[in-house]
Amino acid sequence: MDLKSHWNKSYQLNSIEKLGWFEKLAEPCLNIIGELNLASTDKILIIGSGATTLVDSLIELDYQNIIALDISDIALNTLKLRNGESRVRYIVDDITTTDKLVNDIMLWQDRAVLHFITDDTKLDKYKNAINNSLTIGGYALIATYALDGAEKCNCLPVKRYSADMITEFLGKSFKLLKDFRHVYTMPSGNLRPYTYTLFQKIK
Ligand SMILES: C[S@@+](CC[C@H](N)C(=O)[O-])C[C@H]1O[C@@H](n2cnc3c(N)ncnc32)[C@H](O)[C@@H]1O
Repeated sequence: MDLKSHWNKSYQLNSIEKLGWFEKLAEPCLNIIGELNLASTDKILIIGSGATTLVDSLIELDYQNIIALDISDIALNTLKLRNGESRVRYIVDDITTTDKLVNDIMLWQDRAVLHFITDDTKLDKYKNAINNSLTIGGYALIATYALDGAEKCNCLPVKRYSADMITEFLGKSFKLLKDFRHVYTMPSGNLRPYTYTLFQKIK
């Protein structure tokens, strides 16, 4: 099964609240975003947004320029039904092949997407995308499974990261501003430790 069908099936067969990555409130990311003093018109790009409630929260906080990208059109349609199109632009695409990315992004947010990319060529594409999209001075907020996290997520193998590994992956154009561990409780009650990182693009 191809990747898009795999993810579409997950969103088709389960209610959003039952998905193993659902957050009623995307608290760790919202706390960090609250510290960044972004302007309400700054462009925020949410990579592999799925149907995350982070978008609803950002709209409540008056952000007006949100871009949600996901490989699953079903997830993005769910997000669109909740949030409309006046403040959110929706891009259905694969982050490792897309040519639809937007420039001058002030915040690149990725929770539980980078860790699915295990192929070196695709990782290079991700790195090019983040470098080309983010403006200098902009931020990357990236959360992956931690080194002691599960080896699979939604039946797919994942690459687990420490903050040092994400720092090395992003390279010298990015400065690590903050990192922390967050243990997420899945709807099933199982625990999933994550590595959260915040970077600034410095060149
Ligand atoms: C585990 S979910 C996380 C969703 C969301 N970030 C959150 O925190 O709730 C991973 C999401 O990434 C999307 N995804 C997976 N691989 C992708 C890729 N290569 N390009 C774009 N989206 C992808 C999936 O469709 C899914 O919505």
